[in-house]
Amino acid sequence: MKKMVAPSLLAADFSNLSKDIDIVNRSEADWFHLDIMDGVFVPNISFGVPVVEAIKKHALKPLDVHLMIVQPEKYITAFRDAGADFLNVHYEASTHLHRTVQEIHNSGMQAGVTLNPHTPVLLLEDIIEMVDLVLIMSVNPGFGGQEFIQNTYAKVDQLRNLIEKKNSKALIEVDGGISTDNSAQLYQAGADVLVSGSSIFKSDDPVKTISDLKK
Ligand code: DX5
Ligand code: ZN
Repeated sequence: MKKMVAPSLLAADFSNLSKDIDIVNRSEADWFHLDIMDGVFVPNISFGVPVVEAIKKHALKPLDVHLMIVQPEKYITAFRDAGADFLNVHYEASTHLHRTVQEIHNSGMQAGVTLNPHTPVLLLEDIIEMVDLVLIMSVNPGFGGQEFIQNTYAKVDQLRNLIEKKNSKALIEVDGGISTDNSAQLYQAGADVLVSGSSIFKSDDPVKTISDLKK
């Protein structure tokens, strides 16, 4: 496992985004995690392509874009042009997931597949060799600040086994309800990258919280 951290800007101060981007830039964080919500796939709306483009101008680290939208295949080039480095699509939103992953690669990005809490890891068996990243949701997507779902540890463990069995290079990322209370146990279960929003941006010292999440 790699012990990486991807702060989610969903919990940042949208009236002063450059301040929170600078915090991530000068911290030990590895990526920026950007949550795109359409009000259809999830019951909330966040921000879209122009905001990603604006963030890219200040960000000194890769952009990990998490699409919580229906028909994600329609927006691959738009997010690539906006500066996405990793593009995550939901398994539940992708009818032709194999084709979508190919298109993300052809656009020059790394491809991530995201699983809702109810979606079994084994459904990735026939695609795990071609994905760069699997994002396991540890809350139901749509909102920051929710409670971590305990079954996530078992899912991380199952995914680690599947990755080894298939000799895949995919990284395991976990998203939702993550703080220093559960970070060590998640890395221990086999996670490579932890997403965290509230626990970082609502803390008194976000730079220190990011560094503590890596311990
Ligand atoms: C939830 C988002 C998460 C969220 C995490 O739908 O995908 O990335 O921002 O926020 P916290 O860390 O507050 O649970
Ligand atoms: Zn997310």
